[in-house]
Amino acid sequence: MSDDDLIAAARGAAANSYSPYSNFAVGAALLFADGSVVTGTNIENASYGLALCAETVAVSKAMADGARGGLVAVAVTGPGEMPITPCGRCRQVLNELAQLGGTDPAILCVGPDEVRRTTLAALLPEAFGPASLV
Ligand code: THU
Repeated sequence: MSDDDLIAAARGAAANSYSPYSNFAVGAALLFADGSVVTGTNIENASYGLALCAETVAVSKAMADGARGGLVAVAVTGPGEMPITPCGRCRQVLNELAQLGGTDPAILCVGPDEVRRTTLAALLPEAFGPASLV
């Protein structure tokens, strides 16, 4: 799958964002080694601090369906004027799934005019993960 296709999947997911409090619709799309894609979007709550980020929702969907690795790329889209980068908590959540499968996924941080392509290891260096516990 191309970067553009993965980004389109993330944008599509953002159409289902439930973000009435921030009005900041985020989409995430996870690409796996077998070619499958799992999407997520942010889900907010009247108790504001309980908002779930798009990336965390996507990882939760994937793991609930049995994924335990194979994460090769992640696209994140937002409505802002800058490429959106995953928040700190989402970096840690993504790291759990990535480290289980021994991959360092590409992270596509999508803005209106620019896609910043980085890696999870660059965004979360020296990460604590499942390998740290053995
Ligand atoms: N948000 C995400 O979905 N992913 C991130 O990585 C950053 C922030 C959401 C949370 C909240 O619903 C809205 O964006 C504004 O912070």
